[in-house]
Amino acid sequence: MNGVDRIPAQLAEALHGAGQSHVLRFWDRLDAADRGQLLGQISLIDWHQFANLKRLAAAGAGRSATSPDDLSHASTPATMRLRDAANPVSPSLAIAAGEQALRTGRIGAILVAGGQGTRLGCAGPKGLYPVGPVSKANLFQYLFGKLRAVRRRFGRDVPLAIMTSSATDAETRQFLHEHACCGLSPDCVHVFRQHDLPAIDAETGALLLDSPGRIAMAPDGHGGMLVGLAESGGLDWFARHGVEEIVSFQVDNPLAMPLDREFLGYHLLAAADISTQVVRKQEPGERVGVVVAENGRHRVVEYSDLPAALAAERLPDGRLRFDAGSIAIHAFSRRFLERAAGRSDSLPLHLAFKVVPFVDEEGRRITPRSPNAIKFERFIFDLMPLAERVRVVEIDPAEGFAPLKNPPGAPADAPEHVRAAIVGHAVRLLAKAGVSVAEGIDLELDSGTIIDESDIEAAIPSGTRIDRPQLISAHASTATSGGPS
Ligand code: UD1
Repeated sequence: MNGVDRIPAQLAEALHGAGQSHVLRFWDRLDAADRGQLLGQISLIDWHQFANLKRLAAAGAGRSATSPDDLSHASTPATMRLRDAANPVSPSLAIAAGEQALRTGRIGAILVAGGQGTRLGCAGPKGLYPVGPVSKANLFQYLFGKLRAVRRRFGRDVPLAIMTSSATDAETRQFLHEHACCGLSPDCVHVFRQHDLPAIDAETGALLLDSPGRIAMAPDGHGGMLVGLAESGGLDWFARHGVEEIVSFQVDNPLAMPLDREFLGYHLLAAADISTQVVRKQEPGERVGVVVAENGRHRVVEYSDLPAALAAERLPDGRLRFDAGSIAIHAFSRRFLERAAGRSDSLPLHLAFKVVPFVDEEGRRITPRSPNAIKFERFIFDLMPLAERVRVVEIDPAEGFAPLKNPPGAPADAPEHVRAAIVGHAVRLLAKAGVSVAEGIDLELDSGTIIDESDIEAAIPSGTRIDRPQLISAHASTATSGGPS
């Protein structure tokens, strides 16, 4: 007896009670591994929650989460702009406050890396996708470099929690192990896994089988970070490291500046519960959520939930009425996150109609042409309405937003756009340091040693010209092929 010959009575009863016994339809032909997998999945299903999902799906079918009426009193909130002397708080004060917090180890970070690269067309973790134009560094390596650069400058580690999912966990852990955490101190890295939720048949509310021995499940959205972090002891872990503010950022944006000193400074000086980075949305079709304010509260309306007419509405000065495009970089006070994690109703579930391949009664795997199932996700930005104080900080997309969403050849957010953005960013930073670059060459700044032009100034003489592709590191003072002219 290997422990999976029989279906434990408790599980069989639970399935029967929920009307989901069909997931055992192929039991007799499953091998031991598949039986074990299936029983493992069934034992993890919270049946009370499943009943809720079914109710939600039945109530929400076909409805958009946001109606134009919902937004009739909403507007774009006041924003601070990086390096804008007109801000109510001076940039230099903010920079000093941000630096002080980094120097005293009060800042931590969460990287959300649980999503599947479905749109990008890659099965494994998106973090393994190479983006470095010269180094070929993948997203993990590129982004972790930024934390090393902060440690190099301020002398303190930035404790980093990495959220994985069932789809990305094993490969991510293996990568971190094989690459010695990419140079981050291992005791300052905490990996935790978000939960999965079942995808259910949109018509019947039934569980779907992805294969005869596997129920179709999907990660519970990046909002899963709240519960996942708390359950894994991550909030206490941050507290033990002395972290007071935690910035979350997405694995798909190599230009992300979660640890920008000025951004952190505005957050700290306002004693904000949440601060968030936005880019000015120019066109209605840009696939970014928008931050809106209403009755003194802030929230993000996801792009898929914003009715087209409202997305296109413009103010008399020509700007979009809702143009504070969220780039999903949020600074949270740790205490705010702790309070939110203590409430069961902090984050609502969002429904998405999706194509989910399934196994039919005869055991054939069907991939429907149109959406057949409902997936459920929580979004971390839904914490915003719970916050008393929110700071919205606008950044220049050329400096901090180059998301990798689509496969090569796509009109936007494809790998070639991301690499071009990395090169463009490098060229501008070099120019600030008095270094010129020949037209059209690939160039990359080592994210592990260069934060801004001051790191370049210390390594390369002003007046230098670069005329061949290279990776420029602040360690190397000979990173150039030309010389001061
Ligand atoms: C997301 C934001 C959108 C924002 C845009 C900026 C949501 C719902 N939307 O859109 O408001 O303007 O990014 O680029 O967040 N992830 C997980 N676990 C999950 C699902 C996602 O860790 O269960 C991670 C992904 O790895 C990725 C990030 O969350 O890093 C964004 O997910 P994605 O589904 O690509 O969101 P977008 O539609 O691009």
